[in-house]
Amino acid sequence: MSDTPNLASAGGKIMLVGLGPGSHDHLTARARAAIAEADTVIGYVTYIRLVADLLEGKEVIRKSMTEELDRAIEAFERARQGKKVALISSGDAGVYGMAGPTFEVLFQAGWTPDSGVEVEIIPGASALNTCAALVGAPLTHDFCAISLSDLLTPWPTIARRLDAVAYADFVVALYNPKSGRRTGQIVEARRLFLRHRRPDTPVAIVKSAYRPKQRIEFTTLEKMTDCDIGMLSTVLIGNSNTFIQHGLMVTPRGYRNKYDVESGATRHGEQAGRSLSTGLTGWRAGLHASGRSAAELAAEHRLPEDYIAALLAEPLDAAQADDETAEVEA
Ligand SMILES: C[S@@+](CC[C@H](N)C(=O)[O-])C[C@H]1O[C@@H](n2cnc3c(N)ncnc32)[C@H](O)[C@@H]1O
Repeated sequence: MSDTPNLASAGGKIMLVGLGPGSHDHLTARARAAIAEADTVIGYVTYIRLVADLLEGKEVIRKSMTEELDRAIEAFERARQGKKVALISSGDAGVYGMAGPTFEVLFQAGWTPDSGVEVEIIPGASALNTCAALVGAPLTHDFCAISLSDLLTPWPTIARRLDAVAYADFVVALYNPKSGRRTGQIVEARRLFLRHRRPDTPVAIVKSAYRPKQRIEFTTLEKMTDCDIGMLSTVLIGNSNTFIQHGLMVTPRGYRNKYDVESGATRHGEQAGRSLSTGLTGWRAGLHASGRSAAELAAEHRLPEDYIAALLAEPLDAAQADDETAEVEA
């Protein structure tokens, strides 16, 4: 038996529904079924409009963009009365969406998973997936998402993250890049990126992906702030290997480091299914064999000197044992 107080009538449920980009073709079957099964649908007015044809006979609660906590509180109140509530977000509800605020409200009210209100999170394709699909294959290597909205996050935090990922050569998807009032953040993002990245780094700007006003623009880091960017845009900034060819933005996965891409042959010194010769084990062996100082190696590899010093201080055997199992690369 649970110690948690019963907070609800039987059968109440909150469904956090990710709608995907907004076209019905990209709405998942589970998202559609969740909306069909809901008594009440709550969401930002624009998102309600995206699924207006699925809402007949339902209670519909339209909220403004800044009323996230109100949406969650209202959903919880209805679910406690035994209602099934669909709380809708564009893209994925867990990516800058309603999932986080909803759990904050629920936990604040003493909710636990066994206290009578069920919660289901229904994933949807986030803007980074859908915008990437429209421009090619920009996210095929390490990437991250950063929101430029400073409505809830202090600018120094956002700037620190921009600086770190620009330095670390991630592909980056910028959410909430610009609005009528927030026009300076994208300018600062560009300024921070240009400290670490080439001005001709490829950039794609996708506005209203999979919606009637969809617009795609390819540009460069240097010129991106001259482009049409708004509330419904996602900005994809490539890494140092990303290129644009035949109207497609592509980030290589790294196969050229190991294979001759034309013939498929493995390059000299590399082994199929094993870490690169400059992977962890090979690289560590190289550090030891170099006879150079931790400071010199740290500068060359742009890594902290104390990290390199710690590696040099450890014997190599343990690291070599880690590489015994061959990996399969998908
Ligand atoms: C509050 S966030 C919501 C993100 C959403 N939960 C997701 O997973 O995509 C709003 C931002 O998502 C991005 N976005 C959402 N839908 C988009 C679309 N159809 N096309 C381009 N960007 C979109 C834009 O950067 C926009 O400023």
